[in-house]
Amino acid sequence: YDLRDIKGQQKEIRDKVSAAAKILREGGLVGLPTETVYGLGANGLDGAAVRRIFEAKGRPQDNPLILHVSGPQWLTRYCAQVPPLAYVLARKFWPGPLTMILKRDPCVPDETTAGLDTVAVRCPNHPVTLAIIREAGVPIAAPSANLSGRPSCTTAQDVLEDMDGKIQCLVNGGPCAVGVESTILDLTCTPPRLLRPGGVPVEQIERLIGPIAIDKAVNGVLDGEERPRAPGMKYRHYAPKAPVIVVSGAPEASAQEILRRVGPESGVICFEEYLPLFEKQRVQSLGPSQDKQTQAQRVFDALRAFDSETVTEIYAQCPDNQGLGLAIGNRLKKAAGFHVIEADRERVVLGIT
Ligand code: TXA
Ligand code: MG
Repeated sequence: YDLRDIKGQQKEIRDKVSAAAKILREGGLVGLPTETVYGLGANGLDGAAVRRIFEAKGRPQDNPLILHVSGPQWLTRYCAQVPPLAYVLARKFWPGPLTMILKRDPCVPDETTAGLDTVAVRCPNHPVTLAIIREAGVPIAAPSANLSGRPSCTTAQDVLEDMDGKIQCLVNGGPCAVGVESTILDLTCTPPRLLRPGGVPVEQIERLIGPIAIDKAVNGVLDGEERPRAPGMKYRHYAPKAPVIVVSGAPEASAQEILRRVGPESGVICFEEYLPLFEKQRVQSLGPSQDKQTQAQRVFDALRAFDSETVTEIYAQCPDNQGLGLAIGNRLKKAAGFHVIEADRERVVLGIT
């Protein structure tokens, strides 16, 4: 369904929203736009429907899904012991890219939570998908709509590429405004713990509720036997076929470091300013080095583009960790299996290239 122009034909849109909601209620799979990335939705209270999501994605069974709800008034339906803090956060960040981990209510099936005693909930900020959730009257379990291990989908075209023939319906809501997935915050511990950086920057959360803990998995540290708290953080992810190497550091330094390393067969993901340095390479722009909003919108597209190119390896520039930079850098580093090189600032200062 093409629902990009929601201000257009009201009747036609209502019909399509109803049709998508009906498919969901009947246990089908629907590709759905959200402000972060496209989701692969099913009725989150229907274990059999949720199993179809795992089959379509090829997703490991132990990786739980996020329940998408139409607002904070649904929290007590699916979560037990909702703390006041959840409402404080929902009031500020919902609808929007914040997912909260709370104690689960027994009505949520094991298929959705992968057997955990907690459940992830978020209210997405997309008018069409919100209308579909309301009309369906059930929470929608939806992981990102990519095949497991591939970069997330930020356009309906990306979803078709991965899911054609596996879903009953795809709602085209245009390109995603944020471009990286939601921030995941575990509210079952004190202080709350960041499990995945995302569309709501940590600084904004801390300004509202004070300091939070950062899970080690965010920086790729998985020591020994320890299980990551967001099971999805343990997989190499977002990965194009060629190996990715992230080069961190100030933009000028990382660009020079990549220039020293590349060969004619290398791919490069760089900030817009440095495109002219890499005329001999296959290159994807992340957008201007100071514009993290554009970088967030571009990052998955840049990784996806390299799947149709034959390159020996991909070097990627990476923004600093401020604001959205933490989420953008995390996605690039996950694609790289946390293979990160720190650019040597002094060489640039000394003019050695
Ligand atoms: O922006 C988003 O969050 C997108 C859109 C579609 O809403 N969804 C998304 O879903 O990114 P997915 O399945 O690709 O990532 C969900 C992450 C996984 O890492 C999973 O392990 C974690 O959330 N998760 C889900 N339930 C959890 C729980 N009860 N405890 C800890 N982590 C959980
Ligand atoms: Mg995902």
